[in-house]
Amino acid sequence: MSIYILGIESSCDDTSAAVLHGNKMLSNVIAGQSVHQQYGGVVPELASRSHLQNIIPVIDTALKHAKITKSQIDAIAFTRGPGLLGSLLVGVSFAKSLAMSLKVPLVEVDHLQAHVLAHFIKIKGEEKNVPNFPFLCLTASGGHSQILLVKSYSDFEIIGKTIDDAAGETFDKAAKTMGLPYPGGPIIDKLAQEGNAEVFKFSEARLPAYDFSFSGLKTSFLYFLRDRIKENPNFIEENRADLAASIQNAIINSLTSKLVIAAKDLGISEIAVSGGVSANSGLRSSLQEIAQEHSWNLFVPAFEFTTDNAAMIAMAGYFKYKEGEFASLDVTPYTRYGMG
Ligand code: KG4
Ligand code: ZN
Repeated sequence: MSIYILGIESSCDDTSAAVLHGNKMLSNVIAGQSVHQQYGGVVPELASRSHLQNIIPVIDTALKHAKITKSQIDAIAFTRGPGLLGSLLVGVSFAKSLAMSLKVPLVEVDHLQAHVLAHFIKIKGEEKNVPNFPFLCLTASGGHSQILLVKSYSDFEIIGKTIDDAAGETFDKAAKTMGLPYPGGPIIDKLAQEGNAEVFKFSEARLPAYDFSFSGLKTSFLYFLRDRIKENPNFIEENRADLAASIQNAIINSLTSKLVIAAKDLGISEIAVSGGVSANSGLRSSLQEIAQEHSWNLFVPAFEFTTDNAAMIAMAGYFKYKEGEFASLDVTPYTRYGMG
């Protein structure tokens, strides 16, 4: 079924629109919001205002890049949640009004499921393997960290999750503690490539089953730096790369150790990773090594589909469209996972 589907994503601080033809991506436009950098994190009020400014030009550009007009759109998929309420409201309201004016069906998408389904997006001219069901997916982003058992395009079971902070949030907070701007994840990643991960050891949580915890790690990093700065005010500057490599290593170990146990217990070797943190080069290479050791069939997304993007929303929307699962015009956003 080759329909044109427009995806709209506005759950946090990226305004994105994408067009898919069936499962083939025709465009994927993302407008980030640098306004948050100076505040060390996303300011919800500023995020929703930026979405309002960006949404029309971003959709317009996505249609232009896809070389289609709005009258060719067959369906509109949008992120219903989870995310920031003010940000979601912009995308949800716009999707509804556009669907109403074009008289096309509306499809609501869960942002986290979309991160997983990004693995099924086909890029023109690219031959690619996709995960076979059932597979395990480690989704690690700024707001969530989960291990999902994915049984079909619509059947997702959370088998492990963070009990406090998300992995991306831990990267961002560690970076902030080191005086680096938001989002800190990509900066830590870059610094870590020059550093030695064995220099500093930080306590990692030991939780039962497949759950994660990052708040202890975050606090131990903070206290460690506070104590060292008392002895040497230049401590961070002098050890930036080793600090980045060491904290990154602790986060990666927490994530991968649980994924290894889950894969073993469930006897699954189809393994995927998704979400903003899956852009991390240390995590990607560590997973490659583990995959080789355990004979996993590993699926790592293209960088374009790791952080928030509307192509993954359109992809998830396409699977729902095929099942005839449409949203009504009175649909409202939800802020937490599982509320939809
Ligand atoms: O999936 P995403 O774009 O947004 C949410 O759904 O939360 O993830 C954003 C998160 C941020 O915390 C960001 O620092 C992190 O992903 N991130 C990274 C890297 N690129 C983005 N963390 C570590 N290494 C990276 N290369
Ligand atoms: Zn996300």
